[in-house]
Amino acid sequence: MSVKIGRNDPCWCGSGRKYKTCHAAFDERIVRYASAGHVVPTRDIIKTPEQIAGIKESAKINIAVLDYIEEHIHEGMNTAEIDHMVYGLTTKMGGIPAPLNYEGYPYSVCTSVNEQVCHGFPSEKVVLKEGDIINVDCSTVLNGYFSDSSRMFCIGEVSREKQHLVDVTRECVELGLKEVKPWGFLGDMGQAVHDHAFANGYSVVREIGGHGVGLKFHEEPWVGYNSKRGTEMLMVPGMVFTIEPMVNMGKADIIIDKKNNWEVYTADGKPSAQWEIMVAVTEDGADVLSW
Ligand code: MF3
Ligand code: CO
Repeated sequence: MSVKIGRNDPCWCGSGRKYKTCHAAFDERIVRYASAGHVVPTRDIIKTPEQIAGIKESAKINIAVLDYIEEHIHEGMNTAEIDHMVYGLTTKMGGIPAPLNYEGYPYSVCTSVNEQVCHGFPSEKVVLKEGDIINVDCSTVLNGYFSDSSRMFCIGEVSREKQHLVDVTRECVELGLKEVKPWGFLGDMGQAVHDHAFANGYSVVREIGGHGVGLKFHEEPWVGYNSKRGTEMLMVPGMVFTIEPMVNMGKADIIIDKKNNWEVYTADGKPSAQWEIMVAVTEDGADVLSW
C-alpha cells in the first residue's frame, strides 16, 4: 500500500520543501510520458543533490586512480601490477575498489587487452607489449557511493587500425554524451553511439552495456547502444548512468571464457575498445562525474 502524497506534504526527494513546489510538476510530466507508452524512471534511481555530491567524492578517487595508471602504464609491465596500483591508491585515498569480490570477481580492476572485450583478469602472465591496446576499468566505493569509468591506453606505437578503433570509440562516447539531456531518451544516446561506430565499419557489443550507478554498482536502467532515437528510458534530472560502449573492429559477437565465466573476448578474435564515463542528468544537460 502507498499513500498518495499531499501537495502540502514534504516532497519525497528529501529536500524538505512542500511537494507542490518541489517535484509535483516533475511527477506529472513523467506520468504524461508513461501514459504515452514511454519507459520512465522510478523514484529510487533519481538521486538527490546530496547523493550526487557523494558520488562525486567517490569519482574523485576513480579519476585519480585512472590518472595514476595513465602516468605509470608502460611496455614490459604486467597487468597484475596495474591491479596492485589500483588497490593501493584507492585504499590510500579511503575508498574500496568496487570490483573486488563483486559477484565473485577476484581483482580490484578489469584490464582488457586487444581482443579482450571486458572483465579481463589482471595477471602476471599478461605482459604489455608494444602495439597493445588495453582498457583499464576502475570502479570505487566511498562512503557507500559508487563511481565507475574506464579508459583506453595504447602501448608504444600501435597500428593505424587499432589507433582508429580507440579514437572512434572515444568519439562514440562523446557523441552519445551530447544526447544526454532531461526529457530526452536513452535511445537518443544509444543511436548516436551506434551510428558513429557503424559509419566507421565497426560493430557495438549487444549483450553488455552501461547501467545506472551511484547507490549500487549496477542499478537500473540497463544502457544499450543498439537502440533507436526516441526509445528506451526517459532521461530526467537526477539520473546517473554510464556510457560505456564496447566497439569491435569486426563482428559484434562475443564469447565468455568457460574457465572463469568472466573474461569476454570477441568471437572473431579482432580487437575491441571501450571508454566509459559516468554522467548525471542535470536540469539543462549533463554533468560528467567520472571519465
Ligand atoms: N566496471 C565494469 C562496468 O563498467 C563492471 C565490472 S564487474 C566486475 O560496469 F566485477 F568485473 F568488476
Ligand atoms: Co560500468
